[in-house]
Amino acid sequence: MLKCGIIGYRGMVGQVLLERMSQCEDFTHFHTSFFGDGEAGSNAPTINGKYESIVISAQDIDALCNQDVLISLKGGEYSHEIYPKLLKNGFSGFWIDASSAFRMDEDAMVVLDPLNKDQIKSAFEKGVKKFAGGNCTVSLLLLALQGLIEKEEIEWVHSMSYQAASGAGAEGINGLIRETKKLVENFDVANSALENEEKLTHLIQDGQDFQFGAPLAFSLIPFIDAPMDDGSTKEEWKAGSESARILKDKAFPIEGLCVRTPSLRAHAQALTIKTKNPLKAEEVEELLAKGNEWVKVIPNEVESTRKYLSPVAVSGKLNVHIGRIKNMAHDPHMISAFTVGDQLLWGAAEPLRRVLLLVNEFNR
Ligand code: HSE
Repeated sequence: MLKCGIIGYRGMVGQVLLERMSQCEDFTHFHTSFFGDGEAGSNAPTINGKYESIVISAQDIDALCNQDVLISLKGGEYSHEIYPKLLKNGFSGFWIDASSAFRMDEDAMVVLDPLNKDQIKSAFEKGVKKFAGGNCTVSLLLLALQGLIEKEEIEWVHSMSYQAASGAGAEGINGLIRETKKLVENFDVANSALENEEKLTHLIQDGQDFQFGAPLAFSLIPFIDAPMDDGSTKEEWKAGSESARILKDKAFPIEGLCVRTPSLRAHAQALTIKTKNPLKAEEVEELLAKGNEWVKVIPNEVESTRKYLSPVAVSGKLNVHIGRIKNMAHDPHMISAFTVGDQLLWGAAEPLRRVLLLVNEFNR
């Protein structure tokens, strides 16, 4: 049985990963150890009703090196610091990383197995040991478009994202809740709407110490992550660069504009898709529906859209929904669509647990 170390399991992605691994009984395949910082020495999480061990320090190089596979959920800074130390100390196991630390490294692979399982398997054969989950927005977009990607129908995509607070971690969600609560506590909807709006807007405008650097409750912020030289943000740059690593010879340009919105844990994206052939909306729906078992095409009508095509509709679910699929009147090669997916599941934890299972399969 492979020895698997899970580092930094207490964060949101860690919690979601553990929940999925328990649900799918993945722990039965591994001898699992838990690594953390503050919690080192305390009881490890309960798995299938029992305590298995004590949490080991995430700085314990010997204990880390003793694992066959490590999943790191502690963030890029930790990965940059610890992974070279592990290699120096003889670590020869697999490193699976939730962060963006190594996504662009030549000797690393970005995993999204519904799209690149064959590449993952051939990477194992070639001795690749360093794997990274992709950016959440990128993974959700590619899963939604898999049916068109596999037919090599896409010329380019422009994505306008509406990204949830969870993308900024647990503090993102709780910071948004705190901010919203503080703003609305003294409002009465029996008062005039304009009076309420004016008072609320002033409260927001006069506020300070916002979790996202600017008000997010009742507003949005069209800038995610660091600025790049070309006017994009790093989040926007990842769409093109990471998708190219995942799709290889099937890659196409993806550009966009990333916006933080006050949704909780599911990202949404409004897409403009340029196709190689003129395709009718119904043909696009048909192709997309065949993409993978998680993508669900939502009919372009009001009731289905309200019910299934919102961040709330997919929160806590593995399915990725895509709808509002329509042709653009001025160009038969252009399609509009809207997609939503849970940012913590397929956006983060799920590709990691699935590559862990592939590592296990490969080593059997
Ligand atoms: N960077 C993403 C966001 C989440 O800020 O929403 C992680 O991929």
